[in-house]
Amino acid sequence: MIFYILGILLKIIFFLSCTVLVLLIIEKAKLIFFPHLCTCYVDLSGKAILITGGNTGIGFETAKILAKRGAKLVIASRNVAKSQAAVRAIIDASGNPKVEHKPLNLKSLSSIKQFADDFNRTYGRLDVLINNAGTVEINRTSTNDQIDSTFQINHVGPTYLTQLLMDKIIASKPSRILFVSSNAHFLHNLDSNDIAGKEPMNVWVRYANTKLGNVLVSRGMSKVLPEQVTVNSLHPGTTKTEIWEQGPLFVRKVINFLMDNFMKTKEECAQTIVHLAMARSLANVSGKYFDILRAVKTHRVVTDELAQQYKDTLRLIDDRVKKFEKINTN
Ligand SMILES: NC(=O)c1ccc[n+]([C@@H]2O[C@H](COP(=O)([O-])OP(=O)(O)OC[C@H]3O[C@@H](n4cnc5c(N)ncnc54)[C@H](OP(=O)(O)O)[C@@H]3O)[C@@H](O)[C@H]2O)c1
Ligand SMILES: *[C@@H]1O[C@H](CO)[C@@H](O)[C@H](O)[C@H]1NC(C)=O
Ligand SMILES: *[C@@H]1O[C@H](CO)[C@@H](O)[C@H](O)[C@H]1NC(C)=O
Ligand SMILES: *[C@@H]1O[C@H](CO)[C@@H](O)[C@H](O)[C@H]1NC(C)=O
Repeated sequence: MIFYILGILLKIIFFLSCTVLVLLIIEKAKLIFFPHLCTCYVDLSGKAILITGGNTGIGFETAKILAKRGAKLVIASRNVAKSQAAVRAIIDASGNPKVEHKPLNLKSLSSIKQFADDFNRTYGRLDVLINNAGTVEINRTSTNDQIDSTFQINHVGPTYLTQLLMDKIIASKPSRILFVSSNAHFLHNLDSNDIAGKEPMNVWVRYANTKLGNVLVSRGMSKVLPEQVTVNSLHPGTTKTEIWEQGPLFVRKVINFLMDNFMKTKEECAQTIVHLAMARSLANVSGKYFDILRAVKTHRVVTDELAQQYKDTLRLIDDRVKKFEKINTN
């Protein structure tokens, strides 16, 4: 009896492993057979670019490429020591000294406001805003603004930041806004409106919801922005970065093996971002979702009507900002 059950279990495990392996091989084949490197040579000198989370991972590689093209670059992230080291590394690699770090914590709406005020004061223009910073919290927590932390860092925070910098972006047109989303958004569970993070839910579904938020916001914003101000979202590709460094050791070992052997490098993951940031052919393309340099389909729930729900996020921000101000003045 036991051997019978064990046999079935082994068969299931074998079948699942084969499926995963086939999927991974398809991923790898796509990289080999489709061009996935941005080959546009655009001079970015005179352009100001802001990238959140540019101190490591995909954002760091993106920043290096953009600095090489001569852009004036601001990296916005929390960890000051790590960010200053990253700034030095980017300057060394690019020979472009116009790179600096400004502190930003997307977990706090008041930090975002402070950052935006400072940026608005000190920078005359903003040609490209890249909302790249993101996280997955294995152990769920809430922010002081009473929003699920992952949801705030990945979705609510970047939306607020973009809204606050919108005047500057519009004044700098032609200009571009990017939201680094993920194909993980296909796993979303739209039924959940659990923004305060009370409901237990699978960690990947929570992450997927935040990434669906990126897609909806960019689609929704694209309908209200003036001509020559574009906003798009994208899947950078899957790669080994700090975002995967959580969970049990065994799981991390398996993930690292798959990442090393089947997935993109961080430089490859930066390609769709830099392409959207500078390609001349995309000057008037807005409201789209990109993967491997091309506009591709999103999950089918993403429609113009649903995209209007991004206004719910704006209302939520408004509500929490007011509450926060009340707490501060009391
Ligand atoms: N890696 C992948 O396989 C993959 C796949 C699809 C999509 N993505 C997306 O790509 C983007 C970059 O991911 P990555 O893999 O490069 O991640 P990563 O290596 O973990 O880097 C995340 C960046 O976000 C910043 N960050 C985290 N929390 C922040 C906060 N509260 N406020 C401000 N900045 C914060 C971090 O800097 P500090 O800690 O200093 O703040 C860091 O620079 C994310 O949006 C992710 O969802 C990644
Ligand atoms: C940004 O600065 C401009 C002046 O340069 C000002 O008109 C605008 O209201 C400011 N925006 C915000 C959100 O502070
Ligand atoms: C999550 O919580 C578990 C148990 O409470 C703990 O062992 C683990 O270190 C935590 N993981 C992270 C990434 O904080
Ligand atoms: C984008 O639109 C502007 C005017 O709206 C036009 O001058 C420009 O040629 C267009 N660029 C491309 C690549 O279509």
